[in-house]
Amino acid sequence: MIHVMNDDELQRPSPEEIGAFAFRVWSYKQGEMVSLLIHLGDRLGLYRALRGAGPLGAAELAQRTNLHERWVMEWLRGQGAAGLLTWHDDDRFELTEAAAAVLADEQGSLFFAAGAFGTPAAPDFVDDLAGAFRTGLGLPYDRQGPAGAHRTERMLGPWTRLALVPRILPALDGVEARLDAGGVVADIGCGAGVALVALARRFPRAQVHGFDISRHAIERASRLVEEAGLENVTLHLAGADALPEEPTFDFVLTLDCLHDMTAPTETLAAIRRSIRADGTWLVKDIRCAPRPKDNLKNPMAAMMYGFSITSCMSSALSEPDGAGLGTLGLHPELLQQLCADAGFSRFVRHDFDEPSNLYYEVRV
Ligand SMILES: C[S@@+](CC[C@H](N)C(=O)[O-])C[C@H]1O[C@@H](n2cnc3c(N)ncnc32)[C@H](O)[C@@H]1O
Repeated sequence: MIHVMNDDELQRPSPEEIGAFAFRVWSYKQGEMVSLLIHLGDRLGLYRALRGAGPLGAAELAQRTNLHERWVMEWLRGQGAAGLLTWHDDDRFELTEAAAAVLADEQGSLFFAAGAFGTPAAPDFVDDLAGAFRTGLGLPYDRQGPAGAHRTERMLGPWTRLALVPRILPALDGVEARLDAGGVVADIGCGAGVALVALARRFPRAQVHGFDISRHAIERASRLVEEAGLENVTLHLAGADALPEEPTFDFVLTLDCLHDMTAPTETLAAIRRSIRADGTWLVKDIRCAPRPKDNLKNPMAAMMYGFSITSCMSSALSEPDGAGLGTLGLHPELLQQLCADAGFSRFVRHDFDEPSNLYYEVRV
């Protein structure tokens, strides 16, 4: 007998189609599991022990890290299955040099990423996020606890430490000479202070001020500043409303934070008031497009929207009537318009081939 499919049957997805979609969904679960194993590898020093060691078996790696062999073996197999370690036929595992740059070399590699892999979000934090979908009111950075500031520091720190002074400052008109002679600097939304330390070290005659509304970030920054033995850094647990009313700063930075702010327009106005007429403002913000769908060109766009909901947009909506720009919300055209509205007339965009960010040199 011949069965003729009706319209309903014709429109139903095939098992292959459903299977392919299920694979896509489970891949994210696999990502969640692998993320946790990356966190454990970083936290337990497994990647650092594997770095430059050639192929190692579980017993040898367990001995080098003072960990239990059976647990190390399962972790190694998981890392091999994820393609993060090379799994040799004799069941030894190797961290290649390229993998070491991403997973083990926090101080020397622009590509270091393992620090971004924290513990899963706490259940009560996720409850509050779900609540934010109902009320519209987001959560400030500090709601993530000290771990939030620490994770941000480890995720953004390598680039700041390794590129800000040697690569980015030389591209800005006259800034190095100005700071060599002294000068007053403000880093607004300074987070854990990685940029403050880099600048204060390189320019000992400059007075460097860090502003952030996160208590956890400022506490972490004060520890970093103290450890570095720097005397030319002042920290302020405050936002742009605490900036001086009169022109004071030769150099202002807002690194990866304008889109997190509830009132970016007010911040721009405060920067305009407090910057000297010949001062420079450096903005680092996320590379994104005016038309949201064009952000799909970024292969990490889904992750970016996740960051937005958990941190950036949430922070930017953490007060009533917050601007809520979010991670992919401050595109170059919008920033240029906001700068013009605030009374800045010079706006130069810099692209340093950093996958996620663009930089802007803004002047009066
Ligand atoms: C993604 S972090 C970037 C930190 C740092 N600039 C860096 O590049 O590592 C964003 C920071 O902006 C801060 N922030 C959010 N709203 C702020 C505001 N209105 N004034 C000052 N800082 C703010 C947050 O507390 C957080 O530390």
